[in-house]
Amino acid sequence: MSLAVIHTRAQLGIQAPPVAVEVHLSGGLPSMSIVGLPETAVKESRERVRSALITAGFEFPQRRVTINLAPADLPKEGGRYDLAIAIGILSASGQLKGWKASPTVEMLGELALSGDIRPVRGILPAAVAAGKVGRALVVARENADEAMMAEGTEVFAAGHLLELVAHLTRQQQLPACVPGDVDDAVATVPDLADVKGQLQARRALEVAAAGGHNLLFSGPPGSGKSMLAARLPGLLPPLATEQRLEVAAIASVSGQSVAPACQGMRPFRNPHHTASAIALVGGGSHPRPGEISLAHQGVLFLDELPEFSRRVLEVLREPLETGEILISRAARQTRYPARFQLVAAMNPCPCGYHDDGSDRCLCTPDQIRRYQMKISGPLLDRIDLQVQVPALPAATLLQSSAVAETSATVRERVMAALALQLARQGRMNRELSGRELEQVCTLDGATEALLVRVMQQSQLSARGCHRLLRVARTLADLAGQERVERGQLLEALAFRGLAGGGSC
Ligand SMILES: Nc1ncnc2c1ncn2[C@@H]1O[C@H](COP(=O)(O)OP(=O)(O)O)[C@@H](O)[C@H]1O
Ligand SMILES: [Mg+2]
Repeated sequence: MSLAVIHTRAQLGIQAPPVAVEVHLSGGLPSMSIVGLPETAVKESRERVRSALITAGFEFPQRRVTINLAPADLPKEGGRYDLAIAIGILSASGQLKGWKASPTVEMLGELALSGDIRPVRGILPAAVAAGKVGRALVVARENADEAMMAEGTEVFAAGHLLELVAHLTRQQQLPACVPGDVDDAVATVPDLADVKGQLQARRALEVAAAGGHNLLFSGPPGSGKSMLAARLPGLLPPLATEQRLEVAAIASVSGQSVAPACQGMRPFRNPHHTASAIALVGGGSHPRPGEISLAHQGVLFLDELPEFSRRVLEVLREPLETGEILISRAARQTRYPARFQLVAAMNPCPCGYHDDGSDRCLCTPDQIRRYQMKISGPLLDRIDLQVQVPALPAATLLQSSAVAETSATVRERVMAALALQLARQGRMNRELSGRELEQVCTLDGATEALLVRVMQQSQLSARGCHRLLRVARTLADLAGQERVERGQLLEALAFRGLAGGGSC
């Protein structure tokens, strides 16, 4: 037989669409060509596969070898097709005695010139997809643990081409992979109990967690802003099952460990302010997920917010609105999920010590204004909670930490408040539009009069008012109350905007 078809998978966003590798041998001068929209790295497959076959002791067919990667309109990159191509050539040239190219198994791996099978990215989505159509998956040994995260998919792991051939020709079976001991030592999430004092900032974290609100901390260096931000993921409920797979798939195509997501941990991403727009939102010639997608269903922490370039921050607006990012490159578009919660931190002025009770700050009012203006209004509009974090008095820092609540205690209240929101409106308060707010945020006469007075006095815009009401709604949910009361409105006011001219 001079035709073989081997099944494998491409990678498109976090999907793994099927690809058939068709290998045909025909008469004519010995040659080898790959068709079906292969990119440079796939074309290099020719040399890798040829060397791997020869070093492993096989014969490279002295015929015309045509390899078609179907469907042709699917972009293909990287060395992930090597293994399927090599097995296709061996099968078509009759070197796999007793094995018929089987539609029930898929293969995914790159080949080293020695014939070793190398790991590739995006194994988890491929394993999930293969399992859904009832096929087993052969991967590199290093990819086995990740593939096994796809429950219900039969996985075989091979270290070398010869091991796989021995398996296919029934000389020596590869052991079917068994789920490894999932690392019980879950990386520890920092706990709120470590934070001393800072009652308002702690409360803001709880409110942010309970309503999905974005949050901005402003305060001098060393006041604990980074410390507080890192504790938000631990206040959120663990990832639900379908969220785990999605978050793990993003990690998988980024070449990162899928284990934390598979254990239900919420991501926490902390890109530096020098990060490029591509690093932040994703991109490249083969669009990779950026930080906002790696933070999907978790927290994106932007420390030193005014230091980020405006252009970079602008690109956050779309995903903050839609929960996903569409990356367009040449004729191709890739969509990655990006439903993250934003926590930002900033100093109040360039030196950081403005208004900290000392006279250290030498910044001029104009410098301070320009510094705060660096953050665009539209971005601030999407941050419901804007909170000052003052420097911690030495006495508080030295006091025993036994008094502080733990993350677990706070998380219980957060989950109860989230459950109320889901039952009432099917989503988090953060996502409530102005019209929905009117329905779910009714105020009694006196409280409404208070709101009207505040709006007039502080020239609160309609947007600012909505921000206020969304936070007040979450405060009422945390208190388990159906109606937003005066105390909650007052507390929401205390969380009022501080940067960008205090437009609330
Ligand atoms: N409220 C606090 N409770 C306990 N430790 C604190 C607190 N605030 C600051 N620290 C200590 O100071 C260090 C610096 O805090 P950090 O979060 O980096 O400040 P910032 O980000 O505001 O500059 C922390 O690692 C922690 O050791
Ligand atoms: Mg910091």
